Amino acid sequence: MRRYLGEAVVAGVALVMAGSAAAATTGKAAEGAKLFQQRCVSCHTVKGNAGIGPDLRGVVGRKAGAGSFARYTPALKKTNLTFDVAELDRFLAAPQRVAPGSAMMISTPRQEDRAHLIAFLATLKK
Ligand code: HEC
Repeated sequence: MRRYLGEAVVAGVALVMAGSAAAATTGKAAEGAKLFQQRCVSCHTVKGNAGIGPDLRGVVGRKAGAGSFARYTPALKKTNLTFDVAELDRFLAAPQRVAPGSAMMISTPRQEDRAHLIAFLATLKK
């Protein structure tokens, strides 16, 4: 199981790098966990109980707006995104550009930070 998760993260990171020519680094789940603590936990949980924002366990590979969150905006749902690594990367870079009017306001402009965050989120399987 641990081994499987590790491989999933590595595969995810490879996709991020394929999806962005600017990718200079490899996402590290431990770095992502730190960033998540600093920038995301005020609104997001990863334990199945939503806060101000949806719980993000299992978000990698899920359709946008398809968690068990009661207050998703139509703006997010109607994007019809499926959050594979590339689309999640695009969303986190500029949520208001990808889903105009979404309640998710926090952009993560640095590609490196996004890679770390996604590596972390990819470890949180359902
Ligand atoms: C100020 C509160 C707030 C912060 C801080 C925040 N978010 Fe969000 N986020 C939200 C809300 C609210 C939504 C739901 C958006 C909607 O329905 O339009 C959301 C949605 C999302 C989604 C889509 C989830 C889904 O189930 O479709 C992802 C992924 C996400 N946020 C990641 C992050 C990450 C990573 C961070 C930290 C870098 C972060 N968010 C910081 C409030 C926040």
